[in-house]
Amino acid sequence: MNGDGLPFTLPRVSLGTWRMRGPEAATVVREAIALGYRCVDTATGYGNEEAVGAGIRAGGADREDLLIVTKFPEEDAGRERETLLRSLDLLGVEYLDLWLIHAPLDADGSLALWERFVEAREKGLVRAIGVSNFRPDQVDDLAARSGVAPAVNQVAFGPRHFDPALAGHHAARRITVQGHSPFSENDLAHPVLRATAERHGRGVHQVLLRWHVEHGVPTVAKSASPARLAANLEVSEFSLDPSEVAAIDRIGAEASGGPGGPGASGGRAS
Ligand SMILES: NC(=O)c1ccc[n+]([C@@H]2O[C@H](COP(=O)([O-])OP(=O)(O)OC[C@H]3O[C@@H](n4cnc5c(N)ncnc54)[C@H](OP(=O)(O)O)[C@@H]3O)[C@@H](O)[C@H]2O)c1
Repeated sequence: MNGDGLPFTLPRVSLGTWRMRGPEAATVVREAIALGYRCVDTATGYGNEEAVGAGIRAGGADREDLLIVTKFPEEDAGRERETLLRSLDLLGVEYLDLWLIHAPLDADGSLALWERFVEAREKGLVRAIGVSNFRPDQVDDLAARSGVAPAVNQVAFGPRHFDPALAGHHAARRITVQGHSPFSENDLAHPVLRATAERHGRGVHQVLLRWHVEHGVPTVAKSASPARLAANLEVSEFSLDPSEVAAIDRIGAEASGGPGGPGASGGRAS
């Protein structure tokens, strides 16, 4: 069961907002938009949708130029519409660009929830619907049983989680893999990353983000510092050659004894 794909393109780097709340979250979102971030990732579970909404308004970008993503907490199953309306209200927007199931439930639970997601899209409350932290078999099960494939699966992605099979599986179904936790889930001190960064005169964080670009995987990265937010947008200013990409790919395989590493099934939900 293939998806219809996304009705928009996710930017190479989106702004992550996990663990930021209140005035800090609002300020960082505003600064990020001013720097050029156009996709903001939050979640009902982060408890910051109101602050993120304030930052979005202060950022001054036109609503149609922004992509706003939030995630539905699986423990709210049964209260999908109420939770969505509250997210819209807190964020201060009339629609979401992307609404994700934050983490899978059992197959029946995910299906029941997904049916409400499909309704929300049909009503125009969200432009696209997707999942997060789902394994490929869970994605296939949901798509087969509902007849609607998710447009996105947001999963932990990075050398430690590198899984060519996941990317191929999703690409064949027109499902966009969006990475999360590009830094916090990876070994930033790994000698291959450090050597690559030194060769390019870049930071390890920038190398990791560029490695995502080389794999065609948009990612969600968090920083609370304007300088680091700006540095994380510099991924288009340099590139990695295929041998460098391959060397970074091997980091996860080395750590786990095979491709994919410990989080190939999607990683933790946060
Ligand atoms: N779907 C899910 O279940 C899920 C799970 C986890 C995360 N996410 C999303 O993905 C986002 C990113 O993941 P994350 O929050 O775990 O962390 P992350 O983006 O992997 O790493 C953030 C950490 O890296 C530091 N950092 C960022 N850029 C840097 C740079 N250029 N140089 C040095 N340090 C830098 C930040 O510090 P400073 O802030 O001090 O710069 C912060 O400590 C989340 O915020 C959330 O939106 C989703």
